[in-house]
Amino acid sequence: MKKLNFNFEYESYDSVTELDTVRQELIQKAVEAAGKAYAPYSNFHVGAAVLLGNGEIISGNNQENASYPVGICAERTLLSYVHANFPDQKKKILAITVLDTDLEASPCGLCRQTIIEYETIQNEPIEIILHNRSGTVLIIPSGAALLPLHFNSESLNDH
Ligand code: THU
Repeated sequence: MKKLNFNFEYESYDSVTELDTVRQELIQKAVEAAGKAYAPYSNFHVGAAVLLGNGEIISGNNQENASYPVGICAERTLLSYVHANFPDQKKKILAITVLDTDLEASPCGLCRQTIIEYETIQNEPIEIILHNRSGTVLIIPSGAALLPLHFNSESLNDH
């Protein structure tokens, strides 16, 4: 028997002003997108913005539905749109913000799995910036860091 352990390093900032301009801009775009979230049922407005390899920033937000489980998180709304329209562009940095809480909002399990799918196919991590109403920021090196022992297409290769 062996005991193994999983850990990762991430950064914590008291304010957006400590970040470089591209990360500040990503957060700004995510905040703007959160303001347009369609979240009449939860009133939890989430915005996301991604920096592509070509320097473009695309944003999205959560899209809810009267049939609650049909609703889609901001991260998956955005990443599906981006991969549908810019499949050849790497997804470099993903900023996520929530307007309605001072707590750290962190991607749900489905969104983590989605982020990992794109990390796997581009063979490069996607940096994740978490921001919230209080203005504090966490920077996490990858989606994979948030989902230990995750399942991905490599798991399918040898079956
Ligand atoms: N939500 C997101 O958009 N992203 C997250 O990371 C967490 C949750 C949405 C889903 C739902 O519309 C609302 O927030 C409340 O769960």
